Amino acid sequence: MKQLIEFDTLADPSFSSAVITWQKSHGRHALPWQNTRDAYRIWLSEIMLQQTQVAAVLGYYARFLERFPTLHDLAAAPSEDVMAQWSGLGYYTRARNLHACARRVVAEYGGVFPSDPALLADLPGIGRSTAAAISAFSSGTRAAILDGNVKRVFARVFGVDQYPGEKRVEDALWRRAVALLPEQDIESYTQGLMDLGATLCTRSRPDCARCPLQERCVAYATGRTEELPVRKPKKTIPERQAAMLLLVHGDEVLLEQRADSGIWGGLMSLPEVGGHGARGAIDEHALVTAAGRFGDVDEMSALLPLVHVFTHYKLHIAPYRVALTARGEPVPGHLWWKMSAIEQAPLPAPVKKLLAELARPTLFS
Ligand code: ADE
Ligand code: SF4
Repeated sequence: MKQLIEFDTLADPSFSSAVITWQKSHGRHALPWQNTRDAYRIWLSEIMLQQTQVAAVLGYYARFLERFPTLHDLAAAPSEDVMAQWSGLGYYTRARNLHACARRVVAEYGGVFPSDPALLADLPGIGRSTAAAISAFSSGTRAAILDGNVKRVFARVFGVDQYPGEKRVEDALWRRAVALLPEQDIESYTQGLMDLGATLCTRSRPDCARCPLQERCVAYATGRTEELPVRKPKKTIPERQAAMLLLVHGDEVLLEQRADSGIWGGLMSLPEVGGHGARGAIDEHALVTAAGRFGDVDEMSALLPLVHVFTHYKLHIAPYRVALTARGEPVPGHLWWKMSAIEQAPLPAPVKKLLAELARPTLFS
């Protein structure tokens, strides 16, 4: 029942008629796999076009058909011949699946492709969208396609502001695709959606001025054609905060020997305070206490923060310059290093940069 209600709200016959009317006058009509109902030729084109543009497919398509004029020729050929014909088109799994599919159609269907999209989708290399396209073009079956181009068109027209690669979003797009199918003219409609995505509603700079869907397009109306479809969200890496102490006394700076293991293992660095805490304000009292281990604190000032990106996390470094009036007892694992020899210190790159570029000009001026 819920499904039916949604279908009612998603259905809109004016959508398909706009696509069909446009396809008939402005779509592509002379591609080599058009104007035929030969499922073998249609299937071959759809597989080649899965990850390759029309212009690149044309030559391969012609040569392939010359070498394998029928499904039986393809099924009977040695796989080296099939791979040789595919060589240069890329995504070679397609060629292996193509060959396996040809053999299965011969073995299981007597060499005649089934017209039911559900049966087609069970064959190697044929997903739900490709099955629908083959079925629509070869037997006029009312079935919905949803390839990358169609997803883009739908995401823009309907203002889908979630990543279409997400299962929930993709499922919703499939429901739309089904609900929008026309009663008639499935071939022109299917080809029209493909043509729109390939020629007008392109990834960048879509030609909205010529688009038959412009008046109903949410992305166009709201100026979001560049933002839709939403791109794959980047994996977020954890972020950490650390305050670093630049303790200075005379012409020397205090360095800390780091443990042999872990990040920057075995190098020297600046003493850190609160390396793993959540992001938030730095506790200045904790800084003064930490600095107090090394001597008498005169004054402390915050320097410009910096960010260092590791493979597994991002470190926000808040450096503090702390001037001491007197040094305390030596602290194990720490030593004073002459600023003039800082280039020789075994420091991690961001710390070296901090000391060399940021601190030096003002530190001892
Ligand atoms: N891309 C996928 N199928 C296509 C077809 N039938 N015509 C043009 N481009 C396509
Ligand atoms: Fe794509 Fe522009 Fe047409 Fe909208 S109006 S469907 S963004 S070409």
